[in-house]
Amino acid sequence: MGVQGEAAPRSEAERIRLLHPPGDEDDPKDRVHRDERRPFEYCPAGSRSALEVAIANDGVHVEPGEPSPWVVRFAPLIPTAGKVLDLACGRGRHTRFFLQRGHGVVAVDKDVSGIADLEGNPELEVLRVDLESEDVFPLSGRRFEGVVVTNYLHRPLLPDLVQAIGPGGVLIYETYAKGNQRFGSPSNPDFLLEPGELLEAVRGRLEVVAYENAMVKEPRPAILQRICAIDTREVSYMEIIT
Ligand SMILES: C[S@@+](CC[C@H](N)C(=O)[O-])C[C@H]1O[C@@H](n2cnc3c(N)ncnc32)[C@H](O)[C@@H]1O
Repeated sequence: MGVQGEAAPRSEAERIRLLHPPGDEDDPKDRVHRDERRPFEYCPAGSRSALEVAIANDGVHVEPGEPSPWVVRFAPLIPTAGKVLDLACGRGRHTRFFLQRGHGVVAVDKDVSGIADLEGNPELEVLRVDLESEDVFPLSGRRFEGVVVTNYLHRPLLPDLVQAIGPGGVLIYETYAKGNQRFGSPSNPDFLLEPGELLEAVRGRLEVVAYENAMVKEPRPAILQRICAIDTREVSYMEIIT
C-alpha cells in the first residue's frame, strides 16, 4: 500500500539539527530545564534519552503501552514519510506512533491480533509471520527508511535487518541485554544482547548516532541495549555532524 499525504521531504539541514538538538550542549540553563522534568514526563523527540533523564532526575516514568522514549527520541531522523518496518510489533505501540507521524508502516509479528483495530488503514501493511521458522527473511529485498525493533531478539535476523535499511535510512533498536537476568525475564541468553552486540551488527554498514548499554529503572528495572544508526550512503556522517 502506498504512502498517502506525503509531506515535503525533510531537508538535510533539518536532519542535522535533529542530531544536535537543543540540550545536547552542557548549558546550565539546560540542566535547570532537565531538573524541572517531572515523573510521568516523556522525553520529547530530540531530547535526552530516558536513561539520561532518569539519571538526572531519578524518577522518569514510562508507561508500557507508550512508545519507547528511545524510539521517540530518534524518530525525527527517519526521512519524512519514509516507510517504517516495525518488527515484532506486538500491540503496535510503535506502529501507531509512526502512523501518527505520517509514515507508512509495515508491521510484522507472528500474532497480529494486537493491531486488529488498525485493519483497513491504507498506510499500514500487516505481515503475520513466524520470523524464527522461515529459512529466508520474509522481507528480503525490501528497503525501509526506518527499521524499528523493541523488546525482541532473534540473532539470525540482525544482518537482514541492517540490510533492510535503505539509503539515508535509520535503525532504531532497543532490547534487553546481558545482566538482565538479575531483574527477571527475559533471562534466556538467546534473548539477551551481549555487550556491544548491536554495535557489531551495524559495523561497516551504518553510522552510529547513539548507543547505550545500561540499567534503566522505568517502566521497570532492566538492562537494556539500544542503538540508533544511520545509513549514510547518501549523506556522509561528517556532513551531518559538522
Ligand atoms: C515483548 S513483545 C514486543 C512488542 C513490541 N515490539 C513492543 O516493544 O511493544 C515481543 C513480540 O515479539 C513477537 N514474536 C515473538 N516471537 C516471534 C516470532 N518467532 N515471529 C514473529 N514475532 C514474534 C511476539 O508475538 C510479541 O508481539
